[in-house]
Amino acid sequence: MADPVTVPGIRSRKVAAGAAPIVMLTAYDTPGARAADAAGVDVLLVGDSVANAALGFDDTLQVDVDVMAHHVGAVRRARPDALVVGDMPWLTYHLSVDDAVRNAAALVRAGAEAVKLEGGRRRLPVVEALIGAEIPVMGHLGLTPQSVHAMGGYKVQAREDAAAEALLLDAKALAAAGCFAIVLEGVPDVVARRVTAEVEVPTIGIGAGPWCDGQVLVFHDLLGYRQGAAPKFVRRYADLHGAVVDAVTAWAADVRSGAFPSDAETYHLPGSR
Ligand code: KIV
Repeated sequence: MADPVTVPGIRSRKVAAGAAPIVMLTAYDTPGARAADAAGVDVLLVGDSVANAALGFDDTLQVDVDVMAHHVGAVRRARPDALVVGDMPWLTYHLSVDDAVRNAAALVRAGAEAVKLEGGRRRLPVVEALIGAEIPVMGHLGLTPQSVHAMGGYKVQAREDAAAEALLLDAKALAAAGCFAIVLEGVPDVVARRVTAEVEVPTIGIGAGPWCDGQVLVFHDLLGYRQGAAPKFVRRYADLHGAVVDAVTAWAADVRSGAFPSDAETYHLPGSR
């Protein structure tokens, strides 16, 4: 059994200082978390992407803290060595600082060891309150999916100099406030490289190029378990959808032909055969 991954352990993982890149994958249920943990993933992110990846919604705005706690609990019950981070869903940290601490605590009580939230300097009061309540925080900058309507769609962010400078200031402010790592999503590679070089905590990229201190992907994207066009940063390592269709098709054919169940798959009363 590997040593459990901890928040201080992740905080110290700067590639420039010789650390191995951080591997983070989303997880939403117990078997998925077990598989990712067995593969040696460092961080299991119970992302609000559960909304689109697993629950059939069009965006991440459709899940609340109860849904997230439900999935955090399922991941925790896998007893992973990986660090479990719970995503704070939309509107759970926007209304008041007290509300944010209470909602984050619900995720911690469900099994999260840290929470992630989207946004930069405007989130500082919440970040500081969470850290004050002993809840470690992971930041998330760039293409922040909870801002889909404000951004006018899922668009690469920080393309202009002013926006890139603002993102750098946001990252430095989050790190100074005590965030232990920062997700950079949907930003040009050179912007992510500069943030990674200038910010003391690790960056974890998704659609942010190769120079981050780690990478994160959505479980269902990595495994080809959801259909439709994927963003260019997704690399599919399996065709799980195809494998499931093939397996279920074979079982259905066996049911229809009478080949399933076999005698060995059937319970018998003693002496009835
Ligand atoms: O919810 C999620 O899956 C995320 C990752 C894309 C970083 O926030």
